[in-house]
Amino acid sequence: MTEIGPGDEELIRVASLARQRAHAPYSKYKVGAAIRTKRNRVHSGANVENASYGLTVCAERTAAFAAVNAGDTAFDAIAIVIEDERLPTPCGACRQVLAEFGRTASVRCICDGPQVLEFTLADLLPGAFSLPSPIAGEPVRSA
Ligand code: THU
Repeated sequence: MTEIGPGDEELIRVASLARQRAHAPYSKYKVGAAIRTKRNRVHSGANVENASYGLTVCAERTAAFAAVNAGDTAFDAIAIVIEDERLPTPCGACRQVLAEFGRTASVRCICDGPQVLEFTLADLLPGAFSLPSPIAGEPVRSA
């Protein structure tokens, strides 16, 4: 655990604002996420739940998809904010999605308390799945 540093404040503020837009009538657990990319842009998102529960999308993936749809695919830092005493950590599905766009990106998890948890995506998901890159000149093998 570390203290919140001055460089984190903007990202945390954006994640907190995003959290206000969460659609979480079922769990009542509102999450906000903000991603700073290597181009120094910030993209945010909140969790979006559905009456068909399995269709829910977490805040981290909402933010990741917003960044990618804006053409920003190199993630540098991610802040995840909840209002609770227990610190959040991203779920497994979100770790895999975030790792696609920045294994060395830092992930800061923030709750109501003064402390944050900080990891890299490589810490959070060692051995993340990736497809083998096709070898130049060779056809990509199917099935
Ligand atoms: N949730 C997130 O937004 N991020 C996570 O990493 C874990 C869980 C959301 C999904 C659901 O809307 C609510 O929290 C309770 O699981």
